Amino acid sequence: MKIEIKSAQEWSTPEQARQDCVVTSALYAYLTGTHWATPDWAVMVWEGEEMVSNVHIIERTVLVGGQPVKVGGVGNIATKIEWRKRGYATEALKVAVDFLRDPLGVEFGLMTAIEKLVPRYERTGWRVTAHSLQFEQPGGGKGAFTYPVLILPVIKSDWPLGEIDLRGLPW
Ligand SMILES: CC(C)(COP(=O)(O)OP(=O)(O)OC[C@H]1O[C@@H](n2cnc3c(N)ncnc32)[C@H](O)[C@@H]1OP(=O)(O)O)[C@@H](O)C(=O)NCCC(=O)NCCS
Repeated sequence: MKIEIKSAQEWSTPEQARQDCVVTSALYAYLTGTHWATPDWAVMVWEGEEMVSNVHIIERTVLVGGQPVKVGGVGNIATKIEWRKRGYATEALKVAVDFLRDPLGVEFGLMTAIEKLVPRYERTGWRVTAHSLQFEQPGGGKGAFTYPVLILPVIKSDWPLGEIDLRGLPW
């Protein structure tokens, strides 16, 4: 197994194609029609020539109760079906979280997840802070998710009170 982190600018075309093969996240499947943010970074897990799992990272200053908070958005946690239950997503998320701390130095990690996956993330320090958030869509439109919103303290620990506005496309 090899794990690497690449910025969006570093993705070559074959890697992008492989990346697309792993985009099978549950939320993406449910929320067809949603326009998603382009990730800034991807954690890619390789077995030989095959990308078996990946996690996307988006750097964003969001608003929480009107207050700016620098987050590392974590999204598209996905492992190809035939490679699941071998610890790949767990490893990829660990690498992503280390990266949020250093070099990104964000205040919190932030992700949305379907209810059944929440305990999985709670085991590694993520906690549910809300059940909805707002985001933007092209053409000035607004959208909202009503899913558990999980945060992970990275360099700060007190998450502000109030509505979460991603101030851009969601992840
Ligand atoms: C959710 C998902 C990313 C997990 O990927 P994965 O690579 O199978 O994850 P892991 O192998 O690290 O962990 C999965 C389970 O296998 C278990 N596991 C890990 N290594 C194992 C091993 N060697 N043998 C047996 N089980 C193992 C883990 O304990 C975990 O159990 P849990 O589900 O009860 O918590 C994957 O199922 C997926 O891509 N789903 C569709 C997309 C999705 O829903 N993404 C999440 C969006 S929030």
